Amino acid sequence: MKLFADTANLQEIKAALADGFIAGITTNPSLLAKEPKADYLGHMRKIVGLIRESGREVHLSIEVIAREPAEMAAQADRFINELAYGNLAIKIPISQHGRSFTGVVRELTSRGIAVNCTACMTPMQGLAAAAAGAKYVSLFYNRIRDGLLERHSDEREALLAAKTVEEADFDPAHVIEETAHLLAMSYPDAEIIAGSIRSVLDVKQAGLAGAHIVTLSPKLFPAIVGHYKTDEAVDSFLADIGRWLD
Ligand code: E4P
Repeated sequence: MKLFADTANLQEIKAALADGFIAGITTNPSLLAKEPKADYLGHMRKIVGLIRESGREVHLSIEVIAREPAEMAAQADRFINELAYGNLAIKIPISQHGRSFTGVVRELTSRGIAVNCTACMTPMQGLAAAAAGAKYVSLFYNRIRDGLLERHSDEREALLAAKTVEEADFDPAHVIEETAHLLAMSYPDAEIIAGSIRSVLDVKQAGLAGAHIVTLSPKLFPAIVGHYKTDEAVDSFLADIGRWLD
């Protein structure tokens, strides 16, 4: 399982790359919108610059900011051509308000562009994304669970009534397990990215459920590597050797 940094913040990205354990960076329009207002592609150029400075050409996912398939494909071409970064994936949402974007996934894939099909919430969305050629399928771990917490929401009840989903489809670990099983059958090269991560336990449970990659805010990194017993052990080692050296 690989860890990615889920951020568009340049300082966080620089620090995450220096930390040395991330294998990629994912961004999305809301993450960009948290940064000082600038040119979208210009900001991405700065991220690519930081990656290149790090000496490790890690994965970078950039999301289109369009609602129409033709504009999505045009933006993807621009991102690919203007960034000229070899380890770039273009994020295309699986659908929106009943409109499927798997055709865009197929078109970009047919042109050799790596697609990260994003905002997936169910195994069937993940399967459709992989079947359309997506290299990555991004499942939104906590937003899936949020759907369960919004009990009796009209949309949720409609999906259940139509047998589009079942209760278990609101358990993110279960969704990852089923998606991994379905992809393994016919699309073994597609990788599951678990996003929408809010705790270190989410990271572990998403990975154990079968996510190939978990992308998380760098704000969680200290909690991944820190532990009070680690502090105690290292303090005692240094204290002991300090006395021995005196
Ligand atoms: C992955 O990159 C997703 O865009 C991101 O993790 C979504 O997180 P959110 O549910 O906190 O918006």
